Amino acid sequence: MPAKYGKYIEPFFGGGALYYALQPSNAVVADSNPELITLYKAVAMNVKGVIACLKKHTNTEKEYYKIRSQDWIQLSPEEAAARTIYLNRTCFNGLYRVNRKGQFNTPFGHYKNPRILDEENLFAAASLLQKTSIICGDYKDVLREHAKSGDFVFLDPPYLPISEYSDFKRYTREQFYEEDHKDLAAEINRLHNLGCYVILTNSNHPLVHELYGKFKMDVVNTKRHISCNGNGRKGEDVIVDIKPKKRINLKIVPDPLTEQALKYPPTRFMGSKNKLLKEIWSIASQFQFNTAVDLFSGSGIVGYMFKANGKSVISNDYMAMSALFAKAMIENNSITLSRTDALRLLKPRRESDSFVENTFQGLYFSDKDNYLIDTLRMNIWALRNPYKRSIALSALIRACTKKRPRGIFTYTGHRYDDGRRDIHLPLDKQFLEAIEIINGAVFDNGREHKARHGNALDMKIRSNCLVYIDPPYYSPLSDNEYVRRYHFVEGLARDWNGLEIQEHTITKKFKSYPTPFSTRKGAATAFDQLFKKFRNNVLIVSYSSNSQPTKDEMISIMSKYKESVEVVPLDYKYSFGTHGHKVGNNKNDVKEYLFVGY
Ligand SMILES: C[S@@+](CC[C@H](N)C(=O)[O-])C[C@H]1O[C@@H](n2cnc3c(N)ncnc32)[C@H](O)[C@@H]1O
Repeated sequence: MPAKYGKYIEPFFGGGALYYALQPSNAVVADSNPELITLYKAVAMNVKGVIACLKKHTNTEKEYYKIRSQDWIQLSPEEAAARTIYLNRTCFNGLYRVNRKGQFNTPFGHYKNPRILDEENLFAAASLLQKTSIICGDYKDVLREHAKSGDFVFLDPPYLPISEYSDFKRYTREQFYEEDHKDLAAEINRLHNLGCYVILTNSNHPLVHELYGKFKMDVVNTKRHISCNGNGRKGEDVIVDIKPKKRINLKIVPDPLTEQALKYPPTRFMGSKNKLLKEIWSIASQFQFNTAVDLFSGSGIVGYMFKANGKSVISNDYMAMSALFAKAMIENNSITLSRTDALRLLKPRRESDSFVENTFQGLYFSDKDNYLIDTLRMNIWALRNPYKRSIALSALIRACTKKRPRGIFTYTGHRYDDGRRDIHLPLDKQFLEAIEIINGAVFDNGREHKARHGNALDMKIRSNCLVYIDPPYYSPLSDNEYVRRYHFVEGLARDWNGLEIQEHTITKKFKSYPTPFSTRKGAATAFDQLFKKFRNNVLIVSYSSNSQPTKDEMISIMSKYKESVEVVPLDYKYSFGTHGHKVGNNKNDVKEYLFVGY
């Protein structure tokens, strides 16, 4: 028994012996048997009424069978409660047994003087039950809703039968098979990861040893304590003692980044992990893997860091611009764009469609810059080599983002112009600088890499890869729409192919791509799907303390699919974007987490 705990939770409540012994002040008790729950609720709400009904019952065989034949659902809660107590006290051996229809069918007990009414006991039970949440429901639902880190969960499920002649009896019409015991073990693993104390009782069955071998286990019989052994023996119970998981296996010991990793163009991309690369690598490097998958690559900087550390990288994002960055600097091992090539791209060489000049006139850039953007578009899309094209387009996107106050396209005009050099440096110079820095990032680590453009939920990968998951963070207090922020440069990345500009909008944006991470429920479901899909991979997930699902919910979802789940908190203050919105009085006081599942 834990010395201190939060709530006491007992979801296979039955007779609730441990609960009455402990008398917990903050408890949730539950059972899937509605008759039993009706009894406890009636005692909690109207113990005097129950006592009055009990006083009417007598211990005769005739009365016993009359009461037994009643349908409790038709009775008032007090009468139903009195019936259950009466039958329990006067039936054979106090046995609770039901037939296939769920009707109580234990025969009369023929006791001389059973204690049908124990007022003192009922009043004591009532005063305890009044402080308790009493629920009729499935144990899993109850635990999903109520169990939190630090709670004590006592589980006394229907036991596994030791032999076919076992006196094991069903407690409700719903049966509890071996498969259910395996499910229960998975749920216990979730509670363990969540930080709960759990005590489980069961029969001394080999499956119990198989399922709970990693925990402390005692084999006991009713009279004496005996040594632990795995041969299922009748008349012996097993008590499994599960302590909250200690999260000390993974430690951050950040080494400086390699010189190569530092060559990635610095970025102000929303939610970029450029300041957390050391920590991510410190955790990832504790696992054995050759390939890293960056499922939500954004700026591409995390995938590049993995490449710089000798890994093969698969990079993915549903934005074309992110896929372009990865193609230019991760997938591409050797091709660069010469200065002569870059200078040629700046010269008008073919007839322009003037798309940017016409569509975005007066919104983000001067007419002269818009003209140059169109010139570059025409020339870049005519480049045949896909790597050269991705370098040039990435450079154009970088130049446009740098010249834009705050680097975003959610407003028009030149608000927020803080006079920075980047905003005033002419666009052609920006473009040439960007080409140089992107060329400087191209290198070969001797492995192959892949830049993919698509929905993370559709990805298929081999099981020996490490998967890094950094999706948009959902919070009801801020918006996390990448496409709305970067629509102009995302448009450039696709040359607006297949995109329909919403003409009525001031910013002339196109419709955001749908992503489940734009709602709380969507995000929770998507995490569940991703963790399930990559259940055989090592997972590292970035998420923050002011986002939803919450930390506990994330641990719960991950524990459904992962044997070990650890949370590594990183102290990190966002300096840009909506993730750093005010929380209480602490602006930007947000904790960034790495959830690690393996
Ligand atoms: C937090 S950012 C990733 C930042 C990145 N790790 C970095 O360091 O720059 C989230 C990314 O998820 C992408 N995204 C959103 N929904 C997606 C989906 N369903 N599939 C793939 N990518 C998605 C967004 O385009 C955005 O680039």
